[in-house]
Amino acid sequence: METGALFGVAGKRVLITGASSGLGLMMAEGFVKAGANVSIVGRRAQPLEAAREALERHGEVDAIECDLGTADGVAALVATLQQRDEPLHVLVNNAGTAVAAPFDSYPDDAWPELMALNVQVPFMLAQRLLPLMERAASEEDPARIINIGSVAGLKTSSSNTFAYGPSKAALHQLTRSLARELAPRRILVNAIAPGFFPSNMSAPYLADEQRRRKIVQGIPLGRTGEASDISGLAIFLSSRAGAFVTGTVIPLDGGMNVL
Ligand SMILES: NC(=O)c1ccc[n+]([C@@H]2O[C@H](COP(=O)([O-])OP(=O)(O)OC[C@H]3O[C@@H](n4cnc5c(N)ncnc54)[C@H](OP(=O)(O)O)[C@@H]3O)[C@@H](O)[C@H]2O)c1
Repeated sequence: METGALFGVAGKRVLITGASSGLGLMMAEGFVKAGANVSIVGRRAQPLEAAREALERHGEVDAIECDLGTADGVAALVATLQQRDEPLHVLVNNAGTAVAAPFDSYPDDAWPELMALNVQVPFMLAQRLLPLMERAASEEDPARIINIGSVAGLKTSSSNTFAYGPSKAALHQLTRSLARELAPRRILVNAIAPGFFPSNMSAPYLADEQRRRKIVQGIPLGRTGEASDISGLAIFLSSRAGAFVTGTVIPLDGGMNVL
């Protein structure tokens, strides 16, 4: 197989949650430019529409506005896709949130909020969208679920986002159990565990130059992540080249995970 076909995703239908900014938008741009047909999901209408407009210059994209932090929002997204009745080749569970607060006053309600959006919603979408994914799946080119975890789910850090790391560790473990469950149905399930990438979520850490420099000093490759890093790995996992990879959690962190 020639290299273009090996890493190709042209014509595949890809759904990316939380794609109005940050890592989701980076992946959406990579997939659109590679010829995939991409649906981006976001909570707030304005940034979602801005992202859709920016992406449509490069190819096929549509936007679905919904709040995945509510049961109604999850149901609405699933209903929209069911109505379209099109096969789904790739589901990227990227929408996520973090809550930072001092240990002594860490809010109780951060726990159910993070466990719901970061862990339960990826499960619910996998469960409810499975019939559409099975229609896209074949033995030689299975459908794919990519969960966006975090290096915070692999190792501890000094940040005060106490519920975040445990939620991402749970998502990594969910990835493994879904990979096992869905392999016979020709669905591959993998997680990407990013380190530091510029985004709204990481802005509190990276916007301050002194803090940013300290963070970069703790990254063996000496830089933060870029769009091509995350889109390249997501496209690999979605392509023929990634067709024998399932149940993995791949650190994408410039080497932070080995420190
Ligand atoms: N940036 C990093 O360094 C880093 C590192 C490791 C892991 N991650 C993970 O990467 C993923 C993306 O984060 P990011 O850093 O790119 O943050 P971001 O720029 O804040 O993007 C988050 C995206 O998720 C959407 N979203 C949040 N809550 C939602 C909800 N309830 N319903 C629907 N959409 C929702 C946001 O839409 P709205 O703006 O409309 O809310 C936005 O599109 C997260 O899972 C995060 O944990 C990020």
